[in-house]
Formats: sequence, structure tokens, C-alpha cells
Amino acid sequence: MAKKLYYEEYGTGRPIILLHAFPLSSSMWKAQAEFLSSKNWRVITPDFPGFGDSGIDSDVSRMEDLAQSVATLFSQLNIERAILGGLSMGGYVALNFVRMFADKVEALILADTNAAADTAEKRQSRIELVQGIKEKGSDALIDEMLPNLISNFAKKNNPDLVERLENVFKKANDRGVMAALLGMAERQDHVEKLKDIDKPTLLIFGEDDKITNLEAAMILKDNIPNAELITIPDVGHYSNLENPSAFNNAMADFLNRF
Ligand code: MLT
Repeated sequence: MAKKLYYEEYGTGRPIILLHAFPLSSSMWKAQAEFLSSKNWRVITPDFPGFGDSGIDSDVSRMEDLAQSVATLFSQLNIERAILGGLSMGGYVALNFVRMFADKVEALILADTNAAADTAEKRQSRIELVQGIKEKGSDALIDEMLPNLISNFAKKNNPDLVERLENVFKKANDRGVMAALLGMAERQDHVEKLKDIDKPTLLIFGEDDKITNLEAAMILKDNIPNAELITIPDVGHYSNLENPSAFNNAMADFLNRF
């Protein structure tokens, strides 16, 4: 049975479901949810198991299982079809979701994500990070992951965001974090299947994203038949947090067509 997810809901209107990045939670979408709900969208932002307010009872959060939980949320909320968005890990789940439940997706928004599976080296680094978390808890995440996630611009000009992210990382639930790392390490490769995605797709990437870089963006753009790419200058991996207004405007331009 797919796990029930905690979710936040904003506004009324046509549904858009936004899936969060690792190791964040639904709250990462606050600025987008407030903006879109003011434009007559019903925005739903779930927490994956072990993040935010969703509990966890498994040691591996497989992307397919997370997609199944999102489908359960659609049924729970009587949503037949929605726009589906995801950033990074949220994008991995969205890619699984559109392959498993294509009929439920009207359009896709994929931000700072990657259709390719992990390389052997990346998988190994995740296993080492799981070990680091067992030994020193969330400090391992802050030391080994956080610096690469934030752009040089934000490090210099947005200390509040850096501090906020450090606090979120500090509070992350170790079990949820380790399960997601293992789930991401074994996620499937979607590159060959991108040509079958027959949904209008908006890609949004930070130009200074060192985790899912512009090369990953171009693979999505070149292979999804109806995809367009917006890149945001001076922005790192969490593009919606580093430049919410550029991210919101990109979404609004795209969503105006639906
Ligand atoms: C994320 O932001 O969800 C993660 O950085 C994704 C990853 O580690 O592959």
C-alpha cells in the first residue's frame, strides 16, 4: 500500500502539484504556492516520507514508490489530472510519475533535475554520505552537500538563505535522508524514454547549478518532444529559492497557456 503523504494546499482552481527536492520539504515551495494561488491555481505540495511532516517506515525511498504515493494523493484529493512539477529529487519522482501515470499529467515542470541514473561514482558517494550520516548525523550533509548546492552569488549576497538552508539540513530526519539517498542511488535511467513524454514540459535550471547542470538540462530539452528551457543566471541548484521571482515568472508564462 502506498504511503499517505502529508501535504499543504493553497488556493482554489486548476490543480498543480509541486514535488520537493532533497533534503527539503513542501515548505520549499511557499513562494511559488503563494504566487500561483493568487493567480487562481490550486497548489498542492506534499512532503515525501521522512521529510517535513510525513512519517517514514521504510529504509529505502524508491522513486517509483514515491510516485505511487503521489498517485494516492491524486485519488485522495479527487484530482484526475494536474500539472506536475518537481525540483531535483522531486523531478526524479515526476519523471517516474509521468511514465507510470501519463493520463494524470497535463503538463510537466522539471527544475534542476536529471533524467540519467547515477553514475557508479555518484552512487558510491551517496553510500559514503549515508555512512557519514550514521556517524555524525546531519553535519555530514551540511559539510559534504550544502556548499555545492548554493551558487557563488547567493553565498556572497544572500547569507539569510544560506543560514535558512543550514537550519533545514540540521533538522532533517536522518532516517528519511538515508532512505532517500539510497532510493536516488538506485533510481532508473529515463533518458531513452524521454521521447515518449507527450506533455508540454517547462524546464527551469539555475545557470550555476553544480548538481544537475546545464548538460542535464540539454538532455531533457533535446529529448522531450515538447520541451522549453528557461535558465536563470547567478542561481544554483535550488533555483526557486535563490530567485523566486524569476522562477515564478517562468512558471506563470508557461501556465498561462493552460
Ligand atoms: C536534490 O536536490 O533533490 C538532490 O540534490 C538530488 C540529488 O542528490 O541527486
